[in-house]
Amino acid sequence: MKKVLFVASESVPFIKTGGLADVAGSLPKYFDKKEFDVRVMIPKYACISDEWKQKMKYKTHFYIDLAWRKQYVGILEAEYEGIKFYFVDNEFYFAGDKPYGYTHEDIEKFAFFCKASLSALPSLEFRPDIIHCHDWQTGLIPVYLHDMFMENNFYHGIKTIMTIHNLKFQGIWDVKTVKDITGLNASFFAADKLEAYGDANYLKGGIVYADMVTTVSDSYAEEIKMPFYGEKLDGLMRARSNCLTGIVNGLDYDEWNPETDKLIYANYNIKNFRKEKVKNKRGLQKELGLEQDERKFMLGLVSRLTDQKGLDLVDYVIEEVCAPDTQFVVLGTGEEKYEHLFRHFEWKYHDRVSANIYYSDERSHKIYAACDAFLMPSLFEPCGLSQLMSLRYGTIPIVRETGGLKDTVEPYNEYENTGTGFSFANYNAHEMLGTINYAKDVYYNRKREWNKIIDRAMAMDFSWNNSANKYADLYRGL
Ligand code: ADP
Ligand code: GLC
Repeated sequence: MKKVLFVASESVPFIKTGGLADVAGSLPKYFDKKEFDVRVMIPKYACISDEWKQKMKYKTHFYIDLAWRKQYVGILEAEYEGIKFYFVDNEFYFAGDKPYGYTHEDIEKFAFFCKASLSALPSLEFRPDIIHCHDWQTGLIPVYLHDMFMENNFYHGIKTIMTIHNLKFQGIWDVKTVKDITGLNASFFAADKLEAYGDANYLKGGIVYADMVTTVSDSYAEEIKMPFYGEKLDGLMRARSNCLTGIVNGLDYDEWNPETDKLIYANYNIKNFRKEKVKNKRGLQKELGLEQDERKFMLGLVSRLTDQKGLDLVDYVIEEVCAPDTQFVVLGTGEEKYEHLFRHFEWKYHDRVSANIYYSDERSHKIYAACDAFLMPSLFEPCGLSQLMSLRYGTIPIVRETGGLKDTVEPYNEYENTGTGFSFANYNAHEMLGTINYAKDVYYNRKREWNKIIDRAMAMDFSWNNSANKYADLYRGL
């Protein structure tokens, strides 16, 4: 039996700000329990809801040295859908109303998290064969394993995998401070190790010291070897390319299933969506105070409101996107300029634009079920889960051909009757608009064809099964 520990900064169902949480919380369920014992370790944030906190049981506590101080580490435990979750408790570091805040605080917070996670293992009597690290917040784990944990026999031979969900975020701060906080040996702060462009870089450390590096789609694995997508680490990605693979994300098909989803107005499947799916549109139109017309083309957007998601393209042509023959439903939080943009257009066109500027799991399900199309014109997209959710709900994705979007959405070809969505290549607002209008034309004027696109979209299989097998192969090979 191989033991694997996922370490991540967020995981469903406990805490989520984006797709990382979906992956960390659902992938572990899809391994053969006879072969793998996969557990998950995340911080116990103060902002985790009480409902979940009540389910956590105290396991142990101890103290570690960090930044010249002794710090309390509590470990709690909970089981969810057959998977064991550990929670690292420290009320100083994990206070606040959201998981992430100011960079200088996060830098210390996640150094603490990495060191505490490793230190907890002996007292949990769980010695993983593999620690599977996710994103920069866990980048110090492979580094620590090569430093102060080396001398302890318990840690000998533990292998590490570093999965990059987003190369944009690297955890960067000045060398002196990071040296003080982490207590790492000075020799680690060199250009072939933790240091990049004069600063300390957590993700770089993880990539350099992990035994394997993965990212969440094939295209993104290629893209990040080039300067445009490489976020200044493209040289490192090229240097590590022998150990770098892309494994596309899957979806939790139990959680995201229009046939059984309890959060939507009407359940439907690939056979009856022609009659049943529209009930979700009617329900949402009523709930959001939009004009109640079930023929209206409804376009959805559920997203962190950041530049990554291509929102400056939407901004540029927003008048045309919010055309009279369209209803536009947005759910998201993030940069103020985008929050204002969508609020403004809701105010301007209240019967056809709805701006939901908050986080709501329930509302997101309703939008995936209700809309005709889903807009995701990302500048870059390591994988993207929203388009997978859309496909599963027969809501046709309109995407830019980048990263995981390119790998999961097949563009509609009207001559060959193929494709599961609409896409455009260049990062250009009018190219996006042309694609939206093309989709709208098929929706209004070739309804039969539109429904066939839905047929193909809903028939796609983006459950975790395939990708979990690829991770299993990786684990076996280490
Ligand atoms: P990223 O991880 O870059 O944010 P993904 O497409 O991989 O992008 O994952 C985003 C996830 O977060 C999806 O599950 C999406 O439904 C969800 N999400 C984003 N914003 C919100 C929101 N405001 N309310 C509810 N869910 C949201
Ligand atoms: C990141 C990426 C997103 C990906 C998610 C889960 O947040 O932005 O594309 O789907 O991680 O891997």
